[in-house]
Amino acid sequence: MTQPIITRESDRMPSAHLSINPHSVIGPVRRKLFGGFVEHLGRHVYDGIYEPQHPAADADGFRSDVIELVKELGVDAIRYPGGNFVSGFRWEDSVGPRENRPRRLDLAWHSTETNEVGLHEFASWLEKVGSELMLAVNLGTRGTQEALDLLEYANIREGTALSDQRVTNGREEPFDVRMWCLGNEMDGPWQIGHRSADDYGRIAARTAKAMRQLDPRIQLVVCGSSSAHMPTFGEWERTVLQHTYDDVDLISCHAYYEQTGDDVGSFLASAVDMDGFIDAVVATADHVGAARKSARKIDISFDEWNIWYNSRFENVDKITGIDEWPVAPRLLEDAYSVADAVVFGSLMISLIKHSDRVASASLAQLVNVIAPIMTEPGGPAWRQTTFYPFALTSRLARGQALRVAIESPTYETAAYGTVPLVDGVATFDEETGTGALFLVNRHQSESIDVEAGIEMLREVRILESHSLHDPDINAKNVLEDRERVRPKANSSATVNGALLTVTLPAVSWTAIAFEVAKP
Ligand code: AHR
Repeated sequence: MTQPIITRESDRMPSAHLSINPHSVIGPVRRKLFGGFVEHLGRHVYDGIYEPQHPAADADGFRSDVIELVKELGVDAIRYPGGNFVSGFRWEDSVGPRENRPRRLDLAWHSTETNEVGLHEFASWLEKVGSELMLAVNLGTRGTQEALDLLEYANIREGTALSDQRVTNGREEPFDVRMWCLGNEMDGPWQIGHRSADDYGRIAARTAKAMRQLDPRIQLVVCGSSSAHMPTFGEWERTVLQHTYDDVDLISCHAYYEQTGDDVGSFLASAVDMDGFIDAVVATADHVGAARKSARKIDISFDEWNIWYNSRFENVDKITGIDEWPVAPRLLEDAYSVADAVVFGSLMISLIKHSDRVASASLAQLVNVIAPIMTEPGGPAWRQTTFYPFALTSRLARGQALRVAIESPTYETAAYGTVPLVDGVATFDEETGTGALFLVNRHQSESIDVEAGIEMLREVRILESHSLHDPDINAKNVLEDRERVRPKANSSATVNGALLTVTLPAVSWTAIAFEVAKP
């Protein structure tokens, strides 16, 4: 195991220093940073958000306990319906009278898709949870025409074959979907219809141009790499953007992290990888823009991010066999530990630190499938450890993201070299006079004192402070013990003149909300 080596020690407890300056603005904290992702995968839709036989099901068959938890989580736009699933999906199967909808093979997850929940049902669920719809089109087995058909069905008011079909199917108002993904992970050999960067760039550009001809209001996301560790990473982005630069608004990034072996130190530093990934994609996009002498900037849609024990899926859960096509099997049902939640919180810090260029992000996923919310059929729904950093950050991060220039002791990691033990970011909303500081302590055994200079703010008062930590970093919330882990109030957070101080427990994520005196 790689143990932290403190390279700059104070007398007793290690300490870190930063300052909160409302003028050190990175960019606006856009609500779209707190997006989610619902894929037709495993028990996400069926036996997750939708379970008509459940005692808590509403008149439409959706679990009201899950709806309440999704609202508490505070999720903005939700990407749908995949993921790998979308690359074999025929959207027409999922609309119209339910009794006529076909059962189909879902090759991505080796399952059967019943199409009982489709576009209309999902949109009505989104209204219940208060989130916006973000759609992905299939550029795996399908092309420009099918993307146009779906856009017409979704966004044209009436008077054409497809818009009238939507009205006949029960939805008078258009769905008015503004954000569209041009396929999913087309760089991945596992993707149905996987293509070279040139092939994908061409079809993405053609489809983007046509979709904008139909609806110029939409924002388009072109597929970037499915991970910064793909062999084609970098070159993929460059080639795809050379084809699509003038026709898209955003390029996607996807990243999943898991602990490998007993290397906790590297795992806790996963956000270093995310930081580098974002910086590299921004640099590549700006390079393509500069070479084209373009005034446009392409931003990032980080539309899949999370902790995912993918190795467990690959080696244990993966379904195979010509007669094995289950409906809603248990897939990707990772139970998250305290350490996972601390890394998760640090990934959110990374996203906010890049809010100048990360315009949108989607936590992958929401219920049962690598999810902050778990359910049992006929049984309870509960919050995983990762629920808490998401819910707190979504509720407290408002206004502008601020660079806090942390001076931190460091430690050595096998994966990322020398890494700061403390990372963080602040936000401040001038209008309400409220702000928040988000911090992570990656030290595996010691607390760290943090001193934040607040002389650039008017008189500061702490409103609330929470730390997610536990003496057992492997503790989890599971069916038999659903409330085992919760954030605790961190009473060490205090203001003393021009300093806000807080002690961060070992392996912890912390959020502190404050307000400043009115001028
Ligand atoms: O979120 C699970 C899967 O991860 C998605 O379907 C795919 O896009 C990615 O590889």
